[in-house]
Amino acid sequence: MFVVSLSLSFRNITALAPMVRVGTLPMRLLALDYGADVVYCEELIDIKMAQCQRIVNDVLETVDFVAPDERVMFRTCEREKDSVIFQMGTADPDRALTVAQLVEKDVAAIDVNMGCPKEYSTKGGMGAALLSNPDKIEAILKKLVTGVSVPVTCKIRILPSLEETVSLVQRIEKTGVAAVAVHGRFKDERPTHPIHCDYIQAVAQAVSIPVIANGGSLDLVKTNSDIEKFRKATGASSVMLARAAMWNPSVFCNQGPLPVEKVMEEYIKYAIRYDNHAFNTKYCLCQMLRDRVESPLGKQVQAAQTNAEISEAYGLQTFYQEIQQDLQAKMAALQSSNQP
Ligand code: FNR
Repeated sequence: MFVVSLSLSFRNITALAPMVRVGTLPMRLLALDYGADVVYCEELIDIKMAQCQRIVNDVLETVDFVAPDERVMFRTCEREKDSVIFQMGTADPDRALTVAQLVEKDVAAIDVNMGCPKEYSTKGGMGAALLSNPDKIEAILKKLVTGVSVPVTCKIRILPSLEETVSLVQRIEKTGVAAVAVHGRFKDERPTHPIHCDYIQAVAQAVSIPVIANGGSLDLVKTNSDIEKFRKATGASSVMLARAAMWNPSVFCNQGPLPVEKVMEEYIKYAIRYDNHAFNTKYCLCQMLRDRVESPLGKQVQAAQTNAEISEAYGLQTFYQEIQQDLQAKMAALQSSNQP
């Protein structure tokens, strides 16, 4: 029998897709504010995560997973606890379990990336390399499903034929995973290639676990109402968005989309509040600026080295100062209460 949390459903949901550098805490919180039901973190590699220490950050009110070089690899908070899915890159069942057990108290589910075609992932046998090693897939997923108390899911790309894709997902279903996300592109296809909705549809018909359709951002999903059209076109239970959400996370909002200027401001507020790394803040803002990245504002963002400088570019200096004062006051109060 598999013991899974009852709070998280994968049916009829809309998810923020896992995205390296994009899916850090500010973006995840913003996506939740705008109506995403579930938010994936960026893919985190098992070897790096296994070296991390779990640290409760009382000042920021976060839980941080901190590497030996003091880098925060994964930061999360109470607000997203029931909605955040921790995605890992792994090719090793034991290491995957070690990492899953390290984070399971702080996340809603654990996901394994089986779709990344980039060499840094595949050369270690991770990501899309797993697609040609179903025994390894089965070993990793079974180990996770039996070893953690939160749901386990995985995200795949499609295989060269419908039959192979369906049979892989049927095998995945038998491991006890709670859902499978299907990016409807072949391993070698670029994000600009048209999506194969028929493959997602065949998978959705062949298994009884929820299928989360992914890959529609460029041509099919531009606004909130397109999400339901994409779900219908694929016959999937749910939809996962990457680029459409990266460009403007208010795509999750059914009154949206909101003007991206407003969205960027809200993003920066979360980045300041949660002390997000400035380079990461810049990266995400540049994605939202898109073709305006060389505009005067874009150049100011690119030149900024700190969250303070980024705030200035958006006229948010007062907000920045107020948050700094709050955080410093909290730190002082914590220090004095810790003194004997
Ligand atoms: C991605 N993608 C991705 N996939 C994954 O499983 N783990 C990851 O960490 C990442 N990282 C990532 C970063 C960035 C910047 C992009 C644009 C994409 C792939 C992503 O989740 C999704 O599968 C594809 O982008 C297709 O979905 P859309 O963009 O058509 O909605």
